[in-house]
Amino acid sequence: MKIKSADFVMSNSDVAKCPKRPLPEYAFIGRSNVGKSSLINMLTNRKSLAKTSGRPGKTQLINHFIINDSWYLVDLPGYGYARVSKSSKKKFQKFITNYFEQRKQLVLAFVLVDIRHEPQSIDLEFMEYLGINEIPFGIIFTKADKLKPKAIERQIEDYCQELLKTWEALPPYFITSSSKKIGQDEVLDFIEATNEE
Ligand code: GTP
Ligand code: MG
Repeated sequence: MKIKSADFVMSNSDVAKCPKRPLPEYAFIGRSNVGKSSLINMLTNRKSLAKTSGRPGKTQLINHFIINDSWYLVDLPGYGYARVSKSSKKKFQKFITNYFEQRKQLVLAFVLVDIRHEPQSIDLEFMEYLGINEIPFGIIFTKADKLKPKAIERQIEDYCQELLKTWEALPPYFITSSSKKIGQDEVLDFIEATNEE
């Protein structure tokens, strides 16, 4: 897929106020600081369409972007950010779960995972949550520029082994780097293919 246009639409914390056009939607979720917003900029060839930061907790709202005037891309806050208070964590979880459970046009969620990390229960549990709610998902491994090819291979193998303890089949997965622009075509072509189904 070629990106012809990518524009910010709106930010909010209420799924009922999300854009009304019945277009297919793809959401990006994962731990704080995993690289969700950077990936969105890489995929859309824009430097700062989505706001990024070295400090976790940058994205706080549900952010809608419209791509090629035909589908929505959604940047979400990260989960698992330990420094927020318990009550704000709870509130945060509520608006994210409302989004996932109520947004009818959501086609698929991409769960982002830092390729350097061993499988983390917070990510595995989130995937299980998506499964229970029958929300299709794919995994995007981020920051591949931080590892050598052999190490990437090993990390992916370990991750797949872990997934196969719970899942009968592996979800689609992608290896990406926003700083080295790796994986752009693979992710965009996958979105295009699921969009046509
Ligand atoms: P929150 O909005 O806080 O949940 O974070 P996020 O997941 O949106 O992460 P963000 O895109 O803001 O990036 C977090 C940090 O990781 C920034 O310092 C980025 O520069 C860095 N980063 C993101 N992607 C990559 C990548 O592919 N390679 C490298 N080396 N660094 C990256
Ligand atoms: Mg972000």
